[in-house]
Amino acid sequence: MPTETDVVDSLIHKYGAKKEALIPILQDIQTDLNWLPEEVLKAVAEKLQVPLIDVYGAATFYRTFSLKPRGKHIVTVCVGTACHVRGGQRIVDEIGRRLEIAPGETTQDKNFTLETVNCLGCCAIGPIVVIDGEYYGEMITRKVGSILEKYQVTPGE
Ligand code: FES
Repeated sequence: MPTETDVVDSLIHKYGAKKEALIPILQDIQTDLNWLPEEVLKAVAEKLQVPLIDVYGAATFYRTFSLKPRGKHIVTVCVGTACHVRGGQRIVDEIGRRLEIAPGETTQDKNFTLETVNCLGCCAIGPIVVIDGEYYGEMITRKVGSILEKYQVTPGE
């Protein structure tokens, strides 16, 4: 199994050991692991000879990066005002109940992360749930189960 150093070494080989390679390297790690573990950030800082604080600065600046483990599927529920008045919170509660997690958390099998957002700019079709970039508008609690099922891991997958 490749170590953090092996992973970082192969990315440095791909992008070069230069400061400008920091963001592409972090992007590749985020895509591969779905988050940026501390040991990997330390290895990146060391190999690129960039202060660790700068690596953390980049890792926390961009929303696409996560310093916590994230699930394979990101479930985002809008709880902005328009979605809230149409029952957005009930959708959050129903998803949380089914997945047994609270917003900001990831299921134990690392399949789902539940997040909330304040307005996605398409209030007319609220309440809205977005899973991996796919929009589900006019959401009602009754539909939650069948939608989540599409993203469940099936045994042997
Ligand atoms: S409040 Fe949900 S899309 Fe605007």
